[in-house]
Amino acid sequence: MSKRVLTTESGAPVADNQNSATAGVGGPLLLQDQHLLEKLARFNRERIPERVVHARGSGAYGYFEVTDDVTGWTKADFLSQVGKRTETFLRFSTVADSLGGADAVRDPRGFAVKFYTEEGNYDLVGNNTPVFFIKDPIKFPDFIHSQKRDPFTGRQEPDNVWDFWAHAPEATHQVTWLMGDRGIPASYRHMNGYGSHTYQWTNEAGEAFFVKYHFKTNQGVRSLSSEQAAELVGKDANSHQTDLLQAIERGVNPSWTLYVQVMPAAEAADYRFNPFDLTKVWPHADYPLQRVGRLVLDRNPDNVFAEVEQAAFSPNNFVPGIGPSPDKMLQGRLFAYADAHRYRLGVNHTQLPVNAPKATVADNYGRDGLMATRNGSRHDKNYEPNSYSGPAQSDAALSAPLAVHGWTGTHEAPAHTKDDDFFQAGELYRLMSDEEKGRLVANIAGGLSQVTRDDVIEKNLAHFHAADPEYGKRVEEAVRALRED
Ligand code: HEM
Repeated sequence: MSKRVLTTESGAPVADNQNSATAGVGGPLLLQDQHLLEKLARFNRERIPERVVHARGSGAYGYFEVTDDVTGWTKADFLSQVGKRTETFLRFSTVADSLGGADAVRDPRGFAVKFYTEEGNYDLVGNNTPVFFIKDPIKFPDFIHSQKRDPFTGRQEPDNVWDFWAHAPEATHQVTWLMGDRGIPASYRHMNGYGSHTYQWTNEAGEAFFVKYHFKTNQGVRSLSSEQAAELVGKDANSHQTDLLQAIERGVNPSWTLYVQVMPAAEAADYRFNPFDLTKVWPHADYPLQRVGRLVLDRNPDNVFAEVEQAAFSPNNFVPGIGPSPDKMLQGRLFAYADAHRYRLGVNHTQLPVNAPKATVADNYGRDGLMATRNGSRHDKNYEPNSYSGPAQSDAALSAPLAVHGWTGTHEAPAHTKDDDFFQAGELYRLMSDEEKGRLVANIAGGLSQVTRDDVIEKNLAHFHAADPEYGKRVEEAVRALRED
């Protein structure tokens, strides 16, 4: 086999890839050395902005197969038939640290699924936690600033982390989750995924349902203690990446079973919790899990940068039959992601192979911009309506309308009868075994005891007391013991 010839970006052969061109032996370099100039300039531009959150992640391709009939609740074509398969791409991630951060840390994990459906790409951008820290998107930048590195010290600071939570009683449920046993998954394969938000499904008859998605790992949930995680980080900072990559390379393909909780739309108004509050779960006794299908990951990407770093998920990439609920957090996210992609990857990020539809083609009048590769032919008009054969609207409603009433203004989310910031955090605490409660308390106290201001500690303790008096007492005692040391 003849050897491939190394070329410049324009395809011309490179004569020497080991010695740059100089003026005489030992002399200065020549500006005419196109290969050297191009190689150095291109190298300088290899990095793109990292994701402002969820920077560190791993991805894999696979498929979703429908196992149960859900057509009574949604007309989504990819869920329309038992046995139907849809290609998928999943990106897992940690949240707070930057691109070089370690995997085995106490942090929520991202669980972002792209379904390449015949009706366009559907992105379900969730986490491994069923709830979240806040319920209004206006708090998100402050929340993330408090959890990422401090601008002065360049480290994550317990003072900032806990000061934010001191002012966010609604975070108590998610903090309890994060500090408990599931806070450090053993690997991406051994954790569940959740849509977390409430979404809306619409069936063929136009009836609306509110749903919550649960992906249950078929590998079993496995977690690490804080001590095990610290040891693992020292041995392999990329432990989640190693585990996922090697499992799939060996043909040990991880899978998850997808379930949904389904609430008929008419029940939302009188449910005892606000069903659109992201800090709350719906107890399974109220809305049991209904099985939908199976998600299998069976192929590693060939190139991490092209397919994982450039992957772009947006919660407002819906398909007919699936739409948003009025959850304020979700509504904020409908804006934030595509905006982030336009900044991070450019306006034509949707044309990159990992992001472009695979089971259909994008056909519209969007044109130009940096790096346009799909820009129409001589036969395609770039305006609509037109008298030619260009694409036209379908006239079919995508999802059922949401009823709205009231006045504009900066309202707090409406409270339902059982709504408060602590009840479900207490329920979660009381569900734990005594050993798990002990580890939860130790994890919280480990961080909270490092806070330098007493008032910040007191405010946080008040949240745990409000969730459950025993919980509050145990955390208070553990914090006091550590501070007296
Ligand atoms: C209003 C609240 C939120 C805002 C404004 C927000 C914003 C963002 C932004 C700007 C990114 C980076 C996107 C990119 O550069 O590609 C991101 C990534 C991500 N967010 Fe959020 N986020 C919010 C809440 C949430 C919640 C509640 C979840 C889970 C239920 C979540 C899950 C994720 C995931 C999984 C990623 C990584 C996606 C990937 O793998 O590329 N976020 N978020």
